[in-house]
Amino acid sequence: MNVLLTGGLGYIGSHTAVVLSHLGNQITLYDNLSNSTEIVAKNIEKICGQKINFVKGDVRNTETLKHVLTSFKIDSVIHFAGSKSVAESVKEPIEYYDNNVQSTISLLCAMRLAQVKSLVFSSSATVYGDPLYLPFDEQHPTNPISPYGRSKLHIEEMLADVAASDSEWCIACLRYFNPVGAHDSGLIGENPKGIPSNLMPYIAQVASGLREVLNVFGNDYPTRDGTGVRDYVHVMDIADGHAAALTYLRKHPSWQSINLGTGQGYSVLEIIDAFEVASGKSIPFRVVPRRAGDIAEFYSSTIIAQRELKWKASRDLINMCASTWKFQTQLTKS
Ligand code: WQD
Repeated sequence: MNVLLTGGLGYIGSHTAVVLSHLGNQITLYDNLSNSTEIVAKNIEKICGQKINFVKGDVRNTETLKHVLTSFKIDSVIHFAGSKSVAESVKEPIEYYDNNVQSTISLLCAMRLAQVKSLVFSSSATVYGDPLYLPFDEQHPTNPISPYGRSKLHIEEMLADVAASDSEWCIACLRYFNPVGAHDSGLIGENPKGIPSNLMPYIAQVASGLREVLNVFGNDYPTRDGTGVRDYVHVMDIADGHAAALTYLRKHPSWQSINLGTGQGYSVLEIIDAFEVASGKSIPFRVVPRRAGDIAEFYSSTIIAQRELKWKASRDLINMCASTWKFQTQLTKS
């Protein structure tokens, strides 16, 4: 299949490109380079051993997008492009609704003009908000507590309306929990610009000496050791989940939201311990007050993904940490 990945040079997009290419798909990456560089495209080609189509462009440019869809004879789209920081979205809600919601409307218009109606959307577990029960299953009420989470939920609801309006649309919304880790080669991984807001890249930078100490945001949560618990899932498992979703959509023209997680939660202290084992480095940390907007604990129910996508995460926590560390050491060398 010919697959277009918007935001294809980003963290999840680049790993999904590798998986889809290995499966024999023709990949076209569309990215405005706001949070990535063309080096990622070269590294994807190194890993895949074949040329990857890359088009620099913004998803909000409907005409350019429509031209790419038709000229590369695209069969399906995976929509990764968007902003993804909870904290940043609280400060800049207009940018988040413009870059996330508006760009998706532009994509849908371009797809309709090009008569391409198969779409996998990169959603997030933040659509659930505060847990009424755990694990989060897809029926849990959605009550996001940040503009970022609300932008993702608005998009999911838009996509449900589009699928209801025209039975030719096949749409899957994948709700990621906490993607971490890197491709085994160490050539691609999570490389945020500036100070990482997420735990794993921050720990990797402490381990490499780029940062002195990890701030643990609170140890007074009602969890087994007082620190935040999350469902960390290897980015290559997430990438496999996208390939499974494309296969699923070929047989199930519908709209469906599906969790991508492991079903297992780990605390911040457990992540620190695992990273020290995987890297052989000690991670100095200090406990500081809680971060605004953080939830104590959440993790996923994976029943729907297993039943509908025939997908289950397979990579363990040590692999998540070891692959992160290998990527970080390659970054530091380059
Ligand atoms: C994990 C845990 C923090 C940094 C966010 C987005 C979510 C998804 C993943 C896209 C929490 C603690 C963190 C640090 C810390 N992204 N922490 N010190 O907030 O669960 O989810 O990223 O879909 O949408 O919301 O991830 O990695 O920021 O935090 O103690 O320096 O680590 O309090 O308990 P989060 P995170």
